[in-house]
Amino acid sequence: MQNFKVLVTRKWPNTVEKKLQENFDATLSTDDVPLSEEELTEAMKNFDALLPTVTDSITDKIISTPNRKVKMIGNFGVGFNNIDIESAKKNNVVVTNTPEVLTDCTADIAMLLMLGTARRGSEGEYHVRKREWDGWRPTHMMGTKVTGKTLGLVGMGRIAQAMARKSHFGFQMNIIFFDPYFKNDTVIEKFNAKRCSSIEEVLRNSDFVSLHCPSTKETKGIINYDTLKQMNKNAFLINTARGDIVVEEDLVTALEKNLIKGAGLDVYQSEPKVHPKLLTLKNVFLLPHLGSATEETREAMGMRVFDNVLSFSDNKDPVDRVV
Ligand code: DGY
Repeated sequence: MQNFKVLVTRKWPNTVEKKLQENFDATLSTDDVPLSEEELTEAMKNFDALLPTVTDSITDKIISTPNRKVKMIGNFGVGFNNIDIESAKKNNVVVTNTPEVLTDCTADIAMLLMLGTARRGSEGEYHVRKREWDGWRPTHMMGTKVTGKTLGLVGMGRIAQAMARKSHFGFQMNIIFFDPYFKNDTVIEKFNAKRCSSIEEVLRNSDFVSLHCPSTKETKGIINYDTLKQMNKNAFLINTARGDIVVEEDLVTALEKNLIKGAGLDVYQSEPKVHPKLLTLKNVFLLPHLGSATEETREAMGMRVFDNVLSFSDNKDPVDRVV
């Protein structure tokens, strides 16, 4: 549908951009700079579909733009907490996301964080790069063993299950989890996983706690000073979900007071800002929101958006419709 107008807010993989250009009247991002609120508002009046990413804040004000033309928002990302879903519903705007295609790569990054923080990955790398390493010795940079330990999952969706699979079958870890909405007993049996009746039960009984819940009114700030205090002093926190699930200031305090042993973080409360104290702590392993960042996955995410837009422009229900 060459006359269906789509606006892509950031640079996407070339193959997907080409596909969008071949099939729609597509406006691409040439500078890869986020659009301002004014530019997004203007876009709402001039395009049929807006294709933002998880870092574009699509507020009620933007969705409710008078004389809005946009009828569909195709988010590049599985999380859609950047979009005011209630407003989209109220304004009859269809919203889609990109589930499934990023599951394994995001779980891989959670594994990297778990191993990186437990085995002091970045500390070790800096040590070598700064030419401080003066040779092997029995007590040099001892970390924490991962194999055979207990992994506690907060949320048991697709990414958590992929991490459970990698950890249980690859690292012989015991899996425990809290997810009041998860009902699939076959999956639970497959990983020999133990269901906990509260987050606190997971926190108290895990060597590694990995967060896999969406950012919602209910989950914002659930990892705070009080909940961090429930964790074992030798335990680690891993976050590949959303930064605002954790109160970063409280995490810094917990790390400084050695209430927990370390943290591996891919997401932050006010991305791309990172709490300055996190940057100075040795017991953290920090990545810049790389969960889905592989060529294969980013291309697959883009193609998933493409398919959703194609269905919508063809008056069909997009497969990844969230509202
Ligand atoms: C998502 O899709 O929600 C991720 O955070 C992007 O990697």
